[in-house]
Amino acid sequence: MSDSEQRQLHVPYREYHSQNSTNPATLVETDALVDLSVTPVENLLQPRDEADLLPDVEFIPALSAEQSITIDSPGTDRESQPLLGRLELDVTFNRFPDDPQFSELVWQAECAIDSGIFPERIYQGSSGSYFVKNPAGKIIGVFKPKDEEPYGRLNPKWTKWMHKLCCPCCFGRSCLIPNQGYLSEAGASLVDRKLGLGVVPNTRVVKLVSVTFNYPRFDRQKARMKQVIMDQFPTVGSHFNRIGLRPKVGSFQVFVDGYKDADYWLRRWESEPLLPKLGRQFQLQFERLVILDYIIRNTDRGNDNWLIKYEPGGSKGANNEDGEVKIAAIDNGLAFPFKHPDSWRAYPYHWAWLSQAKQPFSEATRELVLPQLSDQNFVQDLCDDLYQLFKQDRGFDRHNFDRQMSVMRGQILNLQQALKDQKSPVQLVQMPAVIVEKAKGNGAPRLFSFSDTFTQRFQNKSPFFSWC
Ligand SMILES: Nc1ncnc2c1ncn2[C@@H]1O[C@H](COP(=O)(O)OP(=O)(O)OP(=O)(O)O)[C@@H](O)[C@H]1O
Ligand SMILES: [Mg+2]
Repeated sequence: MSDSEQRQLHVPYREYHSQNSTNPATLVETDALVDLSVTPVENLLQPRDEADLLPDVEFIPALSAEQSITIDSPGTDRESQPLLGRLELDVTFNRFPDDPQFSELVWQAECAIDSGIFPERIYQGSSGSYFVKNPAGKIIGVFKPKDEEPYGRLNPKWTKWMHKLCCPCCFGRSCLIPNQGYLSEAGASLVDRKLGLGVVPNTRVVKLVSVTFNYPRFDRQKARMKQVIMDQFPTVGSHFNRIGLRPKVGSFQVFVDGYKDADYWLRRWESEPLLPKLGRQFQLQFERLVILDYIIRNTDRGNDNWLIKYEPGGSKGANNEDGEVKIAAIDNGLAFPFKHPDSWRAYPYHWAWLSQAKQPFSEATRELVLPQLSDQNFVQDLCDDLYQLFKQDRGFDRHNFDRQMSVMRGQILNLQQALKDQKSPVQLVQMPAVIVEKAKGNGAPRLFSFSDTFTQRFQNKSPFFSWC
């Protein structure tokens, strides 16, 4: 650790058991060592064999025809069915007891797909992202399937395919775990909810199936063949676990109405500045975006990846300030790195160039987040919640997750200091990148300890963003 300074922090910490352990749900408090040298980075970046990760059609010989009829749903276009109601797992997967509104929204999407109103690919994006509609045909969400992510196996965009083929050394972002963008999307929403920022449209992990998603030709043929068997020989067909295409896991984000790309309004406001009251409102929203991005270490916050809704107010006259200005932070799929980006590809936060970034954080923002971020139990809770979310990925790796949390804790530490010192967002992003990892102990792991020692380490003493 030649290029690092260390400080000891005593904070509560819980050890996460891998999902492969016999009791995956257990969290044990411990101070076991986290050895960052165990897994070489190249190994982390090796894409796993996707075929192993994807569920396949299974054959259940024990299922009777009668059973199959009761769990199968009727409908003419069976390939498009969301396949819910078939297996207990699928019935519960898209239901969120703590968020009935969101459950209802996903339910509407499923009903729409059932009745032939399919998700529609967003053509401007670099990945397979889809506008999801309700039965009335209104867009209600944005679904991003895991396997159609920018570097996913089934990404439908040929430019990404070319990139992968022609320039493998620059392929992807070496600081991010590949193909977990959907978790990053949902994780950003979780952080937003937990801190009460209110800038990320609600996003969660769901499973959907639609003929408009990108499936390999073989999968489509297999589904068609099984359908024919089912129609011709129902007794044989009833033994299939699944008829139709396999559901895709991905992130589902609530669609926000009336918003435009940030660039649009930012340019407009250069010639027609916001009235002071709305300017203050925008400043507060902007600071929340900064806090979110900094904590999750978003590597992709260009001005096309956040939206602004601007309503200038009623018709009472030019000085009316009753309007509203709101920010929506979308496209959060490239966050939660397991190491800080290398300085030659620093992935800057593009909002740092805006004039709003030069103002010190407001009192209101400091009051909202500082007490939470200074509370180590809150930070530990946040890590626990992210663990529950991230561990559902089949490629989940505890060691990588710990590294992601080390970066996040480092970001939180810097942010906390910046807020205390009344710094501005520009000054915040100029702070040297910190990693907060569990200190190496010198004995056997101790279970159920309530405090632990963390080591704070500067990844690089010089600031990343000295260009500001
Ligand atoms: N929650 C949302 N509410 C409203 N519009 C949205 C939402 N999410 C995305 N959009 C719209 O869809 C467009 C593409 O979304 P997004 O950037 O998330 O997709 P993407 O496929 O990841 O694209 P890329 O990787 O190229 O940035 C956005 O520019 C925005 O106009
Ligand atoms: Mg985008």
